[in-house]
Amino acid sequence: MYEIIRRDGLAKRGRLHTVHGVVETPVFMNVGTAAAIKGAVATTDLQEIKTQVQLSNTYHLHVRPGDEVVNKLGGLHKFMVWDKPILTDSGGFQVFSLAGLRKIKEEGVYFNSHIDGRKIFMGPEESMRIQSNLASTIAMAFDECPSSVASREYIEASVERTTRWLVRCQEEMKRLNSLPETINRQQMLFGINQGGILEDIRVDHAKEISKLDLDGYAVGGLAVGESHEDMYRILDAVVPHLPVNKPTYLMGVGTPINILEAVDRGVDFFDCVYPSRNGRHGHVYTNHGKLNLFNAKFELDTRPIEEGCQCPACRTYSRAYIRHLLKAKEMLGMRLAVLHNLYFYNNMMEEIREAIENGNYAEYKAKKIADMTEKTC
Ligand code: GUN
Ligand code: ZN
Repeated sequence: MYEIIRRDGLAKRGRLHTVHGVVETPVFMNVGTAAAIKGAVATTDLQEIKTQVQLSNTYHLHVRPGDEVVNKLGGLHKFMVWDKPILTDSGGFQVFSLAGLRKIKEEGVYFNSHIDGRKIFMGPEESMRIQSNLASTIAMAFDECPSSVASREYIEASVERTTRWLVRCQEEMKRLNSLPETINRQQMLFGINQGGILEDIRVDHAKEISKLDLDGYAVGGLAVGESHEDMYRILDAVVPHLPVNKPTYLMGVGTPINILEAVDRGVDFFDCVYPSRNGRHGHVYTNHGKLNLFNAKFELDTRPIEEGCQCPACRTYSRAYIRHLLKAKEMLGMRLAVLHNLYFYNNMMEEIREAIENGNYAEYKAKKIADMTEKTC
């Protein structure tokens, strides 16, 4: 059940109630593709960095260790030792971006595993069964994210197939949730809007999927190479056609500014690899822009990454030390940078929720963006 506590313009301050507890929205989900957040981040760290939801991938866990294995071990929550919500992506997007040779048919997708090259088939029913085996809190519908250079004809046909797949996902999820052996019989299902950057196809698709009573609605197929202006234009067009009484999830997005802009357009859920990936490369976020800790100017810098930051890295260590660790390829360097970045994102979401509650989201957003983009040197 999703409730809206407060609205400020189109921005929503909400609460999603799940079997694994409440999610305060807007929320940034922390990406742990293969049941771990890259950068040696442990469950015990997540409380300290304000993580609410972890995101894992159907495709990766199906290939290794196998969803049957995870199921025998009691499901993903027990396996990872994480009792709060987990969202699993359906595999569709990863199959399209990772797998080798692939063939898309009405029944699903045939492709080769990126681990050992073996042939795999995944369709809507397979994706739902895998996600049910994993027993995540929220399952994502099996969709196709068409290439950003696909023709209008291709996108139209693909979106229609994604709708038919969604109906099959919903039926299969209903069946799985009714089985006594299912670990999470209250697994939620979110549908996914597609249509590239073609507004009319996006809006028709949004209207179509809104007729199905799903637990939430995602906007997929963005942040795949289009401009930020195109992304915002599509959100402006699509979000008003998705049910307002259900959570809206913008998949794979994005930069802090993308998130601030999307919240202003009514989006509640986000996920992105940027904070963890950038952290592993020594790029850290601050309220005055991103820093590259490899830069020589930090060699003797005894300040924390961000003055006043309450993350585990900033509470203890200096920029100079973390820079040294990163240069020496010590695992601790990556770990500290990732913890700081995830804290930065999760903490920004907390500020966003507070601003919406106080009815001053527009001012908060303008100031945050101005601070992050000001030229300090
Ligand atoms: N992650 C980022 N974009 C997408 C998308 O379009 N579909 C799915 N399933 N996952 C995504
Ligand atoms: Zn910090």
